[in-house]
Amino acid sequence: MNARVNGIAVNFEVRGHGRPVLFIHGFPLSHQLWTPMADRLSDVCKLIMPDLRGLGRSEATESASMALYADDLNALLDDVGVTEPVTVVGLSMGGYVAFEFFRRHKQRVRAIVLADTRCQADPPEIIEVRAKTAAQVLDKGSRVVADVMINLLFAPDTPETLRAEWHGIMAGSSPIGVAAALGAMAARVDSTDTLPAIDVPTLVIVGENDGITPPRDAQFMHAAIPHAQLEVIPDVGHMTPVEDPQRFADALRAFLGTLTD
Ligand code: MLT
Repeated sequence: MNARVNGIAVNFEVRGHGRPVLFIHGFPLSHQLWTPMADRLSDVCKLIMPDLRGLGRSEATESASMALYADDLNALLDDVGVTEPVTVVGLSMGGYVAFEFFRRHKQRVRAIVLADTRCQADPPEIIEVRAKTAAQVLDKGSRVVADVMINLLFAPDTPETLRAEWHGIMAGSSPIGVAAALGAMAARVDSTDTLPAIDVPTLVIVGENDGITPPRDAQFMHAAIPHAQLEVIPDVGHMTPVEDPQRFADALRAFLGTLTD
């Protein structure tokens, strides 16, 4: 589906019935990250799965920010007609967006799921790498990032078909959108101070072998958020919802079941 929100065309999918859950994918991925959740959870929730600005099939703009992504999603919820507070599920960069969504649209947040993400901002050396990568992507295309990311996202034993599928999705992303996302990540604020202020039920999920945002990042957030649970999924990397969809869905189903109103 397509909606014109916040000045751009946003591609998204809505499936299922019940409590609204907003699923925010990571970099440079797409809403297809959540298809295995829609296949397993559409009996317990309404899954709202957008492509972030400039990624997947949503329209790209030359610059982006966590605030802009969060405001796009806020406008999308209005467009979809969601009035009750949502559970926000963010993976990796989607988690960075979830922190910003919580700060900017707190009244809309019923619960949070932070999957394979971190609260800290980028250190200077990573900011530099992101700027160089953005320039290469604009020059040579998104394959530059896909070729690097594919070796970081998955646990070593991941089937080649899954890796090839995601390499294709990443390589097919808009170079303008990918470069803008790199800039948005580099400029994001540190969310460590937000953690104690998260006053809604929170689930922190991480793959045991996540090499991008390792379990120590999840443990740090779990310790600092007042009402947080932690789920470590064994034998998988950074792409938990597609590497072990059943474990991820079971954790989410159990968590959603604890939300009583
Ligand atoms: C992601 O998976 O969204 C990104 O790798 C996160 C990052 O680069 O910080």
